[in-house]
Amino acid sequence: MNSASRFLSAVSIATIVALGIAVWTNAKASEHESAHATSPANYLPSVSDLMIATIQPRHVKLWVAGQHHNWKLAAYEMETLTGAFRRLIQAHPEEDGVALKDIVDSVTQQPFADLDQAIHAKDETRFNKAYGDLTSGCNSCHQALNHGEVVIRTPKDSAFPNQEFAPTEP
Ligand code: HEC
Repeated sequence: MNSASRFLSAVSIATIVALGIAVWTNAKASEHESAHATSPANYLPSVSDLMIATIQPRHVKLWVAGQHHNWKLAAYEMETLTGAFRRLIQAHPEEDGVALKDIVDSVTQQPFADLDQAIHAKDETRFNKAYGDLTSGCNSCHQALNHGEVVIRTPKDSAFPNQEFAPTEP
């Protein structure tokens, strides 16, 4: 091998090594990006997100179903609302150093038990009373966790024009 070709092969080895590093770095970068793009666990909805998305609408629907004496739908909405509180606690075991499960249990357990009985008895008066207690429970927690500015009340009407609340089955 003369010195010119020795020089050339040194250059091509350097090129191959450099290319290899570039490809490897690129692969690492896209691995990193795709981990971000495909991992839904990276987004944890905040307490406020969950309140707006999963709790507030079901609180409305439960009321509207009860006012239509649609006890089957009321039972369904209550079930999904209790599920939403369960998932809230899973996602946020603590808020401001307070165990959310303890406070959720203390302000919602009794009203949910009363609502369950009222729904089974198809008793509107009992339903309305238990619903009022549940709404007070929402506000007790907001006050306890320094969000007394968020005041929940009995809905005035349905915010869901595309859902039938009257019973459709005999
Ligand atoms: C365990 C405590 C707790 C209970 C029970 C609770 N909330 Fe909340 N809620 C919070 C906290 C804490 C916030 C404020 C979150 C933040 O902004 O960081 C909040 C905020 C809200 C907000 C405002 C969200 C916004 O961004 O505008 C709504 C609406 C709401 N809650 C609805 C309800 C309803 C309806 C109920 C009852 C069915 C309820 N909450 C019960 C803790 C609770």
